[in-house]
Amino acid sequence: MQENILEVRDLSMSFFNQHGELPAVNHVSFSVEKGKTLGIVGESGCGKSMTSLCVMGLYPRPQGRIVGGSILFQGRDLTRLKPRELHKIRGKGIAMIFQEPMTSLNPVLTIGDQITETILLHEKVGKKEAKKRALDMISMVGIPMPEKVFASCPHQLSGGMRQRAMIAMALSCSPELLICDEPTTALDVTVQSQILSLINRMKDRTGASVMLITHDMGVINEMADTVIVMYAGQIVEQAETGELFAHPTHPYTLGLIQSIPPLDREVEELNVIPGSVPMLYELPEGCLFSPRCPYATERCRRERPDVTRASENHFVRCFRHMPGWEGD
Ligand SMILES: Nc1ncnc2c1ncn2[C@@H]1O[C@H](COP(=O)(O)OP(=O)(O)OP(=O)(O)O)[C@@H](O)[C@H]1O
Ligand SMILES: [Mg+2]
Repeated sequence: MQENILEVRDLSMSFFNQHGELPAVNHVSFSVEKGKTLGIVGESGCGKSMTSLCVMGLYPRPQGRIVGGSILFQGRDLTRLKPRELHKIRGKGIAMIFQEPMTSLNPVLTIGDQITETILLHEKVGKKEAKKRALDMISMVGIPMPEKVFASCPHQLSGGMRQRAMIAMALSCSPELLICDEPTTALDVTVQSQILSLINRMKDRTGASVMLITHDMGVINEMADTVIVMYAGQIVEQAETGELFAHPTHPYTLGLIQSIPPLDREVEELNVIPGSVPMLYELPEGCLFSPRCPYATERCRRERPDVTRASENHFVRCFRHMPGWEGD
């Protein structure tokens, strides 16, 4: 029987500023199965990072606030935990590879000290053993000369090395859920594939679950078991990966898939989706994607669609897949 390590139910997180309430995460529900990888995909500004920062309890405060829903991790609602209790879960229960490595690395401590400290906080081991594990972890992520990196501060490393050091820290206590926010975007293609296979190896070794955030449909296809597609804070489509690529249903998902560059031939122009993701303070009245959607009708511009079932375990937020559609 499937067991979910994480269940996010109807989660909403808003920013409050001079524009009023801005819904950055808008009634989002999904789950992550034990030992499986959930992919979260969408263009820049769709709410991928904010969704994962809510799970970590690290969304920007006080501007940002969880305004509804729950986040169940191993049956406990993380939105209701005290900061001290959440702190205990971070690192061992849930660890995160951040989009920006300096978010999680302390600029004035050596990489070795930071990883050793994390291990000492969560594992019942002495200082010597913790140091040894930290060094092992640093070499496991493919860092040449691990001793040198162990003794370096983050600013002394290149971007790629910093990213690896952060991954070593995230993996150091064998977390049960690993959240990776664009773990490879800043890296070149060879390093990218090394990091992705490192995450897969870790998963196979420890049985961990992974939440993988990316704007790259190719990475999703390679890594994820199930996928959620986000647009302007909402989930617009949700399915198993094979099903999503075989039967992409939301016009936004179709657009994302069509904009994957083909590997087997040169193309003069990629099929990009025209327009851009709306700012949260100027969301359109109807379907959030309607201004960019080639199929949009009057109804789409007026009303927001709910989620409907496209097939078993496949959900989509689009009038085109509901009874009574009059477009096309
Ligand atoms: N402090 C803030 N105040 C107001 N709005 C914010 C703040 N931080 C982020 N946002 C908005 O929240 C929305 C979601 O941002 P988020 O960082 O989750 O996007 P993302 O999908 O991770 O994008 P990217 O691919 O660029 O990382 C965006 O519209 C962004 O402008
Ligand atoms: Mg992001």
